[in-house]
Amino acid sequence: MTTTTPADAPAPGSGPAPGEVVLDASGVTMRFGGLTAVRNVNLDVHAGEIVGLIGPNGAGKTTFFNCLTGLYIPTEGTVRYKGTVLPHRSHLVTQAGIARTFQNIRLFANMTVLENVLVGRHTRTHEGLFSALIRGPRFRRAEQESEERAMELLRFTGLQDKREHLARNLPYGEQRKLEIARALASEPGLLLLDEPTAGMTAVETTATRELVLAVREQGTAVLVIEHDMRFIFNLCDRVAVLVQGEKLVEGTPETVQRDERVVAAYLGTPFEGEPGEAEAAEVQAAEEADTPGAQHGQQEGKTD
Ligand SMILES: Nc1ncnc2c1ncn2[C@@H]1O[C@H](COP(=O)(O)OP(=O)(O)OP(=O)(O)O)[C@@H](O)[C@H]1O
Ligand SMILES: [Mg+2]
Repeated sequence: MTTTTPADAPAPGSGPAPGEVVLDASGVTMRFGGLTAVRNVNLDVHAGEIVGLIGPNGAGKTTFFNCLTGLYIPTEGTVRYKGTVLPHRSHLVTQAGIARTFQNIRLFANMTVLENVLVGRHTRTHEGLFSALIRGPRFRRAEQESEERAMELLRFTGLQDKREHLARNLPYGEQRKLEIARALASEPGLLLLDEPTAGMTAVETTATRELVLAVREQGTAVLVIEHDMRFIFNLCDRVAVLVQGEKLVEGTPETVQRDERVVAAYLGTPFEGEPGEAEAAEVQAAEEADTPGAQHGQQEGKTD
């Protein structure tokens, strides 16, 4: 989809070129006994991109993430990160450069906010057990650097004032932010977010959108699963739609929103008319049906 023109070619040693393929999932299939949860899915993510992955409940989105991150070994297919086939071990995938958050938040509930982020850094610190036990100067310096980076990430996610709070005492929206901070602590080239705005207020959702854009600005590509279509279509450069384990459509938000198969399989009704018009009509019809004397055939105009 994204092309690399000669003008985009990197200067030697200048880091990833815009458009470099970061993630290349090819023919990924995941079967659980007789159930094929993911079927022959191909998906690329390029440097600098934010890609959305949508689909109805049970479509296979989380299973696909699990195949990308080494949690599951795909029945078929390969996953490459920057051209190298990934091992089927989640810590090695993190070490390679892919970090993720989970649909069901996975924080260390009884650790502080800062400690949770420090745990996320362990794949990027090189101090061994012996060094940790004797707590020599090298270890202390590494520890201090880790803490500085963790505080930077807490400022980045707006959690700096909560550093000493226990993770379990954070409001839900902040726990999701902390998951993102912890994932970023491994300095990933690709961040996978599984429903980052689930359960968030509108204000928190907007803040999460800003945060994801900032993550991209800092050079991390993003692949995000979400059910909130407004969030997805306002944020992503490209969107892929999974239905019953298969990729149905992929394209720009405009293309995907207009695709009749997507509308039929997932969105249900096209985004037409004033927002909330259909709901308002339904409520009105229900109220009229409830009104004494309005019981008999008063629901004019709503036959479908
Ligand atoms: N470990 C497993 N063993 C057996 N079946 C599984 C397993 N994990 C997922 N499934 C099944 O695979 C299918 C896809 O599930 P998955 O959780 O990937 O969907 P999803 O698109 O993430 O849905 P949601 O939007 O509800 O999170 C479902 O039918 C689910 O029951
Ligand atoms: Mg899921």
